[in-house]
Amino acid sequence: MTFRPFLIQRSPQILIWGIVWAFATLLPVSCPADENAFESITGENPKEDRARWDGFYKSHPAAYGKSPVKVLTDVAGQFKKGAKIFVPAMGEGRNALYLAEKGFDVTAVDISEVAVESARAEAKKRRLSLKIEIGDLLSKEFKPNDYDVVILSLFFRTSILDRLKKSLKSGGFLFVYNELKVGNRNSNQDADIVVSESDLKAAFLGFKSVQINKYTENGKPVIGILGQKP
Ligand SMILES: C[S@@+](CC[C@H](N)C(=O)[O-])C[C@H]1O[C@@H](n2cnc3c(N)ncnc32)[C@H](O)[C@@H]1O
Repeated sequence: MTFRPFLIQRSPQILIWGIVWAFATLLPVSCPADENAFESITGENPKEDRARWDGFYKSHPAAYGKSPVKVLTDVAGQFKKGAKIFVPAMGEGRNALYLAEKGFDVTAVDISEVAVESARAEAKKRRLSLKIEIGDLLSKEFKPNDYDVVILSLFFRTSILDRLKKSLKSGGFLFVYNELKVGNRNSNQDADIVVSESDLKAAFLGFKSVQINKYTENGKPVIGILGQKP
């Protein structure tokens, strides 16, 4: 009797648990929107953040996919030709690369060297020209009235929001994309990623022409907000 038939005959549960285990192992790679995949990965310690995010991107290549956020592609037509766009916490650059492809003047930053290298490799492959930097946004200085657009995708951090808004020119756009916090369902997840609608809307107080788009992505409620600085 060979090993495999023995296991199947004696313990069909082993086979079932094996399949369950295989799915559980593969799920975060194929489906980044997994419930706990990004739980508490970002805190307020840059060294720890860098190490954790580097580890995350090493074990989850293309974790957020290569396509830009859908709601960003819906609104990008409103940005003026050649607009100067800042993409903080760009990850592996899905949105920054898309915007560079559209001809915008893009600067993108992330704390993770692994993510930055991946974005640079993709930019090279697609022959795109954009500035990609490694940096900690918590300590980074932003020039006031500098950008036409700031893109915050799955990185909602109130401690840097005011500085980012100051870095926008008058008439410039702030774009925010997050998973929506619904009751306690996803309250154990990263606070930069899963945010309540009221906190997100508060970021746009005083802004004009605020456009809100709520929809479901990978079975999760998400929100995209675009507003213009007065
Ligand atoms: C949830 S991911 C979102 C990535 C990207 N914006 C996207 O939507 O695909 C959050 C990103 O924030 C970056 N990050 C975390 N803390 C940071 C910090 N202090 N400064 C810069 N980037 C940071 C992480 O490395 C990670 O790439």
